[in-house]
Amino acid sequence: MNFKIGGEIPLQQDGLYSYITDSGRSSLRLILHTLKDKKFALPDFLCPVIIDVFDEFGIDYEFYHVEKNFDFISPDLDVLYIIDYFGRQHWFHPKAPFIISDMVFSPQVIKPHKPEDWIGFNSLRKISPLTDGSIIKSTIQLDASLVRKECSLFAFHKKYDEWENGERILNEQKRIYNISDHSLFALFDFYYNLENERRDRQNNFNTLKTFLNVRQLEIKPEFPSFFPILVDKRDELREWLRTQNIFLPVHWPKHPKAPDHPLYDTIISIPVDSRYNIFDMERVANLINRFYDV
Ligand SMILES: Cc1ncc(COP(=O)(O)O)c(C=O)c1O
Repeated sequence: MNFKIGGEIPLQQDGLYSYITDSGRSSLRLILHTLKDKKFALPDFLCPVIIDVFDEFGIDYEFYHVEKNFDFISPDLDVLYIIDYFGRQHWFHPKAPFIISDMVFSPQVIKPHKPEDWIGFNSLRKISPLTDGSIIKSTIQLDASLVRKECSLFAFHKKYDEWENGERILNEQKRIYNISDHSLFALFDFYYNLENERRDRQNNFNTLKTFLNVRQLEIKPEFPSFFPILVDKRDELREWLRTQNIFLPVHWPKHPKAPDHPLYDTIISIPVDSRYNIFDMERVANLINRFYDV
């Protein structure tokens, strides 16, 4: 028989359950709702929001050590929580029976070939113009009825002068909301331009790599959003750069419950997205070099 031509195009799926929420923490809540009775291994270098959400659920966790270059030895607990630091991906086979991939720096959430039991999620407002949005992909079914139909109020506060207000609303919110319509449409545009965006970011990333004289981290992200560096006098540098109209984020401030880790005091990130060009990157690199020359 000849191959059939005609009919509607069938839906093509990756065989995973897919969900969308307003933020990384909402996605984490949706995931933990199903896995709350398991024992988790969390990395000792992590975003403080993660600890807050785990504590909100009263979940049992232990910390495992991540090296300064983000390598680690896989611990042996029910669920291993792995952060893809700055978009660096771990294509390896950890021992834990269940993996959660925190891919907040990645535009797409793609399951590695292994492991079999896996959930990945991202946070789109951190790495794109979207005000809100987080995608979850999962090998197990989650309780989608927990995601409210409407979007969160914080999705209307991303303008520079309103940003703090948006963060406050998000920090106080415990419910899981949907992505806003405006972010959903912005996501289509973001994906449409993804390859151009990736190219611009890679050029900015490479420029910093060439010009910066300070300690760099050996990461090769698939889709760079930030260029992290390790520096002494990090807070003084940050303050001085503010006087030059340069505002660099710190990923992350230490949660009081997190174990000590040298990265908390020394790391600072330079954004490399397409708002900036290679001349902006040269300027930032030269200023940072100058700060340490004196
Ligand atoms: C590694 C990591 N995981 C989870 C989150 C939570 O994401 P969101 O701020 O979108 O809730 C963040 C950011 O706060 C993060 O940096």
